[in-house]
Amino acid sequence: MGTVRQEKTSFLKPSDELPDFVNLKGAEISAQSCRRCPLWERATQTVFGAGASHARVVFVGEQPGDAEDRMGLPFVGPAGRLLDRALNQAQINRDLCYVTNAVKHFKWEPLGQRRLHKKPTSREIQACRPWLEAEIELIQPEVVVGLGATAAASIFGVPVRIADVRGKLTHVETVGRTCLITAHPSSVLRAPDSDTRQTEFDRLVQDLTLLQEFVR
Ligand code: URA
Repeated sequence: MGTVRQEKTSFLKPSDELPDFVNLKGAEISAQSCRRCPLWERATQTVFGAGASHARVVFVGEQPGDAEDRMGLPFVGPAGRLLDRALNQAQINRDLCYVTNAVKHFKWEPLGQRRLHKKPTSREIQACRPWLEAEIELIQPEVVVGLGATAAASIFGVPVRIADVRGKLTHVETVGRTCLITAHPSSVLRAPDSDTRQTEFDRLVQDLTLLQEFVR
């Protein structure tokens, strides 16, 4: 009991800043003990970003899923495989990019034996944003790509409708660089039938094709 109370009082408020990090490894190690919001309690580990440390393109997803939480790497489960297929088709080499998430702990609730994904709240997105800022600051990419609504909310600092902002390379003041918003790969997987799935996949590929000039 005593331990729990002490950990709860040690939560940082979302507005608290992180120290400056020398490199991504240092930031990743520090993020492993992050207590900025309660999501760490039920997650296996912090899933930090992974990829090229001087990538010209950074992809931002929502949060790690079940597979990512176990493996400690972003986009290695079903959504990651769909992202890989879309990147392949758009001729974007994932190895030249950096892939991360807006929220770095898996948020879930039990459903029988399964761990059911739960959407992060605005407060959780905000609490985790300094980690994303640290990654962007260290990498200095030319483009930040938001995959889905949670990533878009983190990038813009307010909730936005994907349909209003997707598919355009635009300078975003809150990030200080060019951003591209597109659909989350999971939304393609969740499409109700195979025709819609194919249409949504093609739209995702079309958006990702805009990145070709940066990752050749
Ligand atoms: N969905 C995400 O948004 N990120 C991951 O890493 C995996 C699934």
